[in-house]
Amino acid sequence: AMAEKSGYTHFMLKEIFEQPQAILNTFRSRIDPEHGQLCLPELGLSDRDIKGIGRIVLLACGSSWHAALVAKYWLEQWVGIPVEVDIASEFRYRRLLLDKNVLVIPITQSGETADTLAGTRLALKSGAKVVAICNVLGSTITREVHGTLYTHAGPEIGVASTKAFTCQLVALFLLTLYLAQVRGTMASRERLTMIESLVELPVVLERELPGWQEEMERLAEEFVKSRDFLFLARGENFPIALEGALKLKEISYIHAEGYAAGEMKHGPIALIDRDMPVLALVPQNGVYDKVVANVEEVKARHGRLILLGSRGDANIGRIADHVVYLPVILPDLNPILYTVPLQLLAYQVARLRGCDVDQPRNLAKSVTVE
Ligand code: G6P
Repeated sequence: AMAEKSGYTHFMLKEIFEQPQAILNTFRSRIDPEHGQLCLPELGLSDRDIKGIGRIVLLACGSSWHAALVAKYWLEQWVGIPVEVDIASEFRYRRLLLDKNVLVIPITQSGETADTLAGTRLALKSGAKVVAICNVLGSTITREVHGTLYTHAGPEIGVASTKAFTCQLVALFLLTLYLAQVRGTMASRERLTMIESLVELPVVLERELPGWQEEMERLAEEFVKSRDFLFLARGENFPIALEGALKLKEISYIHAEGYAAGEMKHGPIALIDRDMPVLALVPQNGVYDKVVANVEEVKARHGRLILLGSRGDANIGRIADHVVYLPVILPDLNPILYTVPLQLLAYQVARLRGCDVDQPRNLAKSVTVE
């Protein structure tokens, strides 16, 4: 069936608004919320295989690589296995130290990205176990790997990934909980709490989306003429700063960089002046004080500060020029929650600048040549 915009001005906007449903579709058949159990037979991994994993290597390009960066935090935190994250085009041209105890996870929306496929084939040759995370049924990668954990985002038409990205995060979160379940690295009560928070997520997104759309439209009006944009965050939200910057540069052509907030003093702080918009993610989590200290440095240099933080946080409004309040959820799921307003910001800025949102110049939906 031909994909249609069903009343939305662009596929990207439609796909942003489809996220509550897409996320639900990605987790619903895989969890038992009553008992806090997960079931992922599609991985093709026995419990014995899972107990034997000594290292995990995540492999991807573009937004899918950002999803991998978030998963590193989750997997190391909850499963306790060392995780490496690699850009597929780098992975394929170096000495790979893989063996049968390594689990390699290529992440690809399309299942057709040339570099990710090439890296996957090298991993297969090395004897490692390979499980793909993919959105397209029967795509090339899914026919070659040992197992595929499908995201059920549905077809994504906009070149800039939105729902496929958040569904990759959901799939990686499920994978984390499942590995923790099999290896016994997380208390079952804790796993149950996490599953309950995941089940709540589509409800939260559905409720918040209309408000974010308006807020981001207002913000976009103010920053539509900006030449540069800096996105900051720490911890599991740091990759979302990268993703927010990527979205903005892809579709609005504003130069944008994502940075780990603590690294700002080693370079980007030199760029801060009265014209420089700096957007930071400051949910109340374990690194909250650290990020606040970093953004105070921005304020001291008169940067234009936009903060996305926790509803009820009385502190951030004092520092920032603009604050967007997000609901307080399980901190582990913040990377998914905080992605969505950043998608809308990029969308609104691009639209106001008259850019071709769904078909940005020089970019392709899937890059099947090297
Ligand atoms: C292209 C797309 C991106 C995507 C990347 C990786 O650059 O424009 O949105 O993240 O490829 O694609 P994949 O299908 O492998 O996830």
